Amino acid sequence: MMSDIDKVLISKDELRKTVKKLGEQISRDYKGKDLLLVSVLKGSIVFMADLMRDIDIPCRIDFMAVSSYGSGLKSSGAVRIIKDLDNNIEGKDVLIVEDILDSGKTLSYICEMLYARNAASIRICTLLDKPERREVEINADYIGKVVPNEFVVGYGLDYDELYRNLPFVGVLKPEIYVK
Ligand code: IMP
Ligand code: MG
Repeated sequence: MMSDIDKVLISKDELRKTVKKLGEQISRDYKGKDLLLVSVLKGSIVFMADLMRDIDIPCRIDFMAVSSYGSGLKSSGAVRIIKDLDNNIEGKDVLIVEDILDSGKTLSYICEMLYARNAASIRICTLLDKPERREVEINADYIGKVVPNEFVVGYGLDYDELYRNLPFVGVLKPEIYVK
C-alpha cells in the first residue's frame, strides 16, 4: 500500500494535534448545548472516532450516508441518501462531521435537507478543506487543515474504496488512478 503513495501531506502526529485542537474548540463552543455529531459515511469515520474522544462535553452521535463520488475522482453532482439519520434532530445542535469539503455539493445538499428538520443549529466540521475546488458557496465552521488541489487518501479518505486505513493523509502516485 505504501508503494502507491507519492508523498505524505499530513502526518499521524500532525493529524493528532489538529483533531485535538478541533475537539477542544468544539467542547468550548457547545458547552450547555444539545450536541449531536453527524458523521457522513464512510470517509469521516476515522476522524469522527478520534474527534469524539477529544470532546469532553456530553454529546450524541449519528450517521448518514450519501452517494456522490462512486469510485471516481470528481463529484457527479447527483447526491442521493443511502442511509438517513436514526435520530430526530429537532431542537438539537447538529455538527456535521466530514472528511473533506471539495466542490461543496454533498454538504450543501445535506445541510439543506437537515435545515428542513428544525434543528436548533447546524454547523460543519471538516477535517480537510480544498477551497480551490469549490463550485457551491459553502464554508465550514471548523476546519482541520486546508489542502491544495490534489487528490488525497488515508485517515478515512479513499480512492476506489482503498487506502482508508492509512494512518496519515497522503497523495497517491498519478499512475494509480490513470491506469
Ligand atoms: P464534494 O461534494 O465535491 O464536496 O465532495 C465531498 C466528498 O468527495 C468527500 O466527502 C469525499 O468522500 C470525496 N472527496 C473529495 N475530494 C477527495 C479527495 O481528495 N480524496 C478522497 N475523497 C475525496
Ligand atoms: Mg469518498
